[in-house]
Amino acid sequence: MQPKPDRVVAIYPGSFDPITSGHLDLIERGSRLFDQLIVSVLRNESKEPLFSVEERMEMLVEAVAHMPNVEVDCFNGLLIEYARTRRATVLLRGIRAVSDYEYELQMAHMNRRLAPEMETVMLTSREAHSYISSRLVKEVISLGGDIRGLVPRFVEKRLRQRLHLGVQEEESIQV
Ligand code: PNS
Repeated sequence: MQPKPDRVVAIYPGSFDPITSGHLDLIERGSRLFDQLIVSVLRNESKEPLFSVEERMEMLVEAVAHMPNVEVDCFNGLLIEYARTRRATVLLRGIRAVSDYEYELQMAHMNRRLAPEMETVMLTSREAHSYISSRLVKEVISLGGDIRGLVPRFVEKRLRQRLHLGVQEEESIQV
């Protein structure tokens, strides 16, 4: 059995395209559980994201500015290899519903097979966030729906700019 590390470093990996209130809640809770939490954006060239990795990191940095033990980074390749280079021993993931669980369980098993020393910690999302996803938020806002409260205010503004949604609506959003 591995000895308990002096400092527990956790990685919270994901696409974060863009960060939602659900992600932010998980980061806040994770920051209280671990000594250091690294929120890391996957550089996945095969996906077609709305925001570049740099833009997504910029938004994350702004959103986590009030948490001194949270860092924002990006990675490519295998998550566990990246986690090893960052001396992390925990992989943090959020579960919103049973449908997430199957995929998360599969990844957790695969990651354990690849790196038995790494633990996957899954936190259940708050009920109020259980239906929020970056994909749905993008769909709703692009079709004119109200996404207030689903993402931080400044992220809503960035979404409106990126999707060329009315200036008038944009101006009514306070940062
Ligand atoms: O926010 P997402 O898109 O659900 O995050 C998925 C992520 C980044 C956690 C997953 O795709 C990942 O870890 N990719 C890195 C490549 C890797 O290690 N694959 C094997 C995972 S078992």
